[in-house]
Amino acid sequence: MTEYHCDYLFTGSHLFTAQGGEEQIILNAAIAVKDQTIVWLGKQTSIPEDYKNPSKAVYELDSGWITPGLIDCHSHLVYGGNRSNEFRKRLEGESYEAIAHQGGGILSTVKATREASEGSLLLSAARRLETLLNEGVTTVEIKSGYGLNLETEMKMLSVARQLGKNFPVDVRTTLLAAHALPPEYKDNSDVYIDHICDVILPAVNDANLADAVDGFCENIGFTAKQIEKVFKKAKSLNLPLKLHAEQLSNQNGAALAASYQALSADHLEYLDEAGVKAMAKSNTVAVLLPGAFYFLQETKLPPIDLLRKYKVPMAIATDCNPGSSPCNSLLLMLNMACTQFKLTTEEALMAVTKHSAQALGLQDTHGQLKVGMQADFVHWSIDEPEDLAYYFGDNPCRLVIKKGQPLI
Ligand code: NIG
Ligand code: FE
Repeated sequence: MTEYHCDYLFTGSHLFTAQGGEEQIILNAAIAVKDQTIVWLGKQTSIPEDYKNPSKAVYELDSGWITPGLIDCHSHLVYGGNRSNEFRKRLEGESYEAIAHQGGGILSTVKATREASEGSLLLSAARRLETLLNEGVTTVEIKSGYGLNLETEMKMLSVARQLGKNFPVDVRTTLLAAHALPPEYKDNSDVYIDHICDVILPAVNDANLADAVDGFCENIGFTAKQIEKVFKKAKSLNLPLKLHAEQLSNQNGAALAASYQALSADHLEYLDEAGVKAMAKSNTVAVLLPGAFYFLQETKLPPIDLLRKYKVPMAIATDCNPGSSPCNSLLLMLNMACTQFKLTTEEALMAVTKHSAQALGLQDTHGQLKVGMQADFVHWSIDEPEDLAYYFGDNPCRLVIKKGQPLI
């Protein structure tokens, strides 16, 4: 009986591996996959005999490029309703903060999400997810945060888990109960924080519904002191941390996140040098969200030069949500990170592969083309890797391989 050493062999394409260094690009390459894993990659001229005869199929790709599957490491994909009415108000001159202070903003989505059935949340999120997947996304993070009570936070997270079962994508869920103050706790934010720590966090953790914990450290969210309470509780449950920090003002949230070894601090337009240094020390990823920057017509840029200077890894994500970034395109974010934030095209590619994997704590298995990594990759009809950041409103995705399976 023939012994097969791989299931599939992909030939005839160039590779952008996202490993950095000398192995970053391999021209005229091949990849062999067995079960869910990359078992060999290298020059097409040096395929070992063992891998030339796969058990299932050889794909002759005929030019183009393969990159790791894209990773959207910050999304609020599951939500009820939409907020186009607020978009209209903002165009007439009202600010995002003012709308939030009037009880709109996040709280209007909370109302719609509480009223929505699990089935309708699943359907609306599935449509958004499909758009992401068609563009080569193979891993997505999904936050709660539009429930703000145990029942609805759990409903959102279980919808996110179901999406991961129903679609060929790895879903990482994040509990964001500290997103806004729910109406039941008006003027009682400390009591709500205690409720998160004493009730919501332990119950969500018992149900294994969250892979990480996040918060919104902002004058329209929670103070650094309140967030710290949530972080302490999450840490005691061994849950990794993330934080929406320095989006609208500098609250020193990123430094707090770094002091708790958070995986990432996200947004960061108002981040200062002390915050950057703290993030560098803890190897906390800077998740940049060009969609929110654009849609809120923000003018303060995140401190990209400082992030470079201190070698803080930078990721990019959609922040897909109904208020600040109603966007389902990670490819568009690649382009906007370059045009708005002046990332290089290579930085942008690393930001949706290796660094976005790190922002989810998945750097050992996801985000690079490397032997031993999960076989998640995408074949693109492009001439150079940077074409992925260059085009916008275009989708050159030709073939997606998820956990070793070509999705055709
Ligand atoms: O990442 N900044 C806080 N949270 C979301 C927006 C939430 C909303 O407006 O619905 C964000 O931008
Ligand atoms: Fe967000």
